[in-house]
Amino acid sequence: MSGRATAIASLATYVPPRVLTNADLEKIVDTSDEWILQRTGIRERHIVDPGVATSDLGVEAATRAIAAAGLTPDDIGVIVVGTVTPDMFFPSTACLIQHRIGAHHAWGFDLSAACSAFTYALTTASQFVASGAHDHALVVGADVMSSIIDYKDRATCVLFGDGAGAVVLSAANPGQGAILDFEHEVDGGGGPALCMPAGGSRKPSSHETVDQRLHYVKQDGATVFKFAVRKTEEIARRVLERNGMTPGDLDLFVSHQANRRIILSATEKLGVDPEKVIINIERFGNTTAATIPLALNDAVRAGRLKKGDLVLLASVGAGFTAGTVLLRWGF
Ligand code: UT7
Repeated sequence: MSGRATAIASLATYVPPRVLTNADLEKIVDTSDEWILQRTGIRERHIVDPGVATSDLGVEAATRAIAAAGLTPDDIGVIVVGTVTPDMFFPSTACLIQHRIGAHHAWGFDLSAACSAFTYALTTASQFVASGAHDHALVVGADVMSSIIDYKDRATCVLFGDGAGAVVLSAANPGQGAILDFEHEVDGGGGPALCMPAGGSRKPSSHETVDQRLHYVKQDGATVFKFAVRKTEEIARRVLERNGMTPGDLDLFVSHQANRRIILSATEKLGVDPEKVIINIERFGNTTAATIPLALNDAVRAGRLKKGDLVLLASVGAGFTAGTVLLRWGF
C-alpha cells in the first residue's frame, strides 16, 4: 500500500421498509420456509415498493454516512457507487446521488462488480484518498435486486433482497483505524454461471428478450457455490499471509452474504473462530453490493466491532469477481 493511510470514517445503511418473508414466497412459487432456511439461512428480505430505485436507497445511506462523519456533502471529492441495478444505463447512479445529496465538489462513477462491488469500490476510492487527490470519498453499495429477479424462478427469487450501505473514506490520522491491504481478482470464465443475459449491447431489449425472460438473474447455483467457498478461503488466506497474520488474529470476518452455508464452509476451511464471523443473511437475503455494509452495521450495533479491531471483508460474485479488504476499524 502506498500513499497516505486511509480509513473508514463512518458507516450508514438503509433498507426499504417492506418485508418479504419466506411465507410470502411460499404463496408465489413452489418453495417452503424450511427449504429456504436450511439451504440458504434466509428468513426474510426487504423489497422496495414500485417506483423506488437504487439511487433512492443510496441517497438515504449516503446522507447519513456523511453526517455521521461530521462532514457536509461539499466535503466529498469523489463518489464510487457499486451496483448491478443502476436506476438506468446512464446517467450513472453516482451522478444521480451526487445531485440529490448536493455534493457540489464531487465527481464520481458506478462500478460494476456484482457481489464484490463493495470491496472493489472501497479499494478504488481508497486510492484517490491515499494519493492525496481527495481528502474524503463516498463509497455506496446499493442494489434493488427485486427489479431483476424472476419471481417465477424459485431457484433465484428466494435469495435476493434490496438495500444500501455507504461509508465515508478519509485520510487517517495516526492511531486511527486504517485500510491495511486488499486483494482482488477476476475470473471471467465464470461469467455464464451468474448473469443477466439481455438488455445490454449483446442482446438489446426486445419483445423476444422479454418473452424469453432474459432480463432476469440466471444462476447455476452449484457452480457459484463451489467457487465462492474455494475463492473466499483462498484470497482471505493470501491477504492475511502477505501481512504476516493468521485467521486467529482477526477480530471480525465480514463476508458477502449470499448463503449461510457458503460463509460457514469458507470460514471453517480458513480456520476462523465462528464467534468472529458475522452472519445476518436471515434478515436481508443477498443484497449484492449492500451485504458487507449491512453486516458491518449490525456488528457495530451488537458491540462486536470496536475501534482498533482487525477486520477482514471478503466477497465473491458474478464475473466471477472476488475481493478482500483488510483493515483496522476506525471508530
Ligand atoms: O452472491 C452471488 C453469488 N450467489 C451465490 O453465492 C449463490 C450460490 N448458490 C447457492 O447458494 C445454492 O446453490 C442455492 C441456494 C442457489 C441452491 O442450493 P443447493 O443446495 O445448491 O440446491 P440445488 O440447486 O442443488 O437444488 C436442490 C433441489 C433441486 O431439486 P431436485 O433437482 O433435487 O429435485 C431444486 O429444484 O432443490 C430444488 N430447489 C428448491 N426447492 C424448494 C431449488 N430452489 C428451491 C426452492 N425451494 N426455492
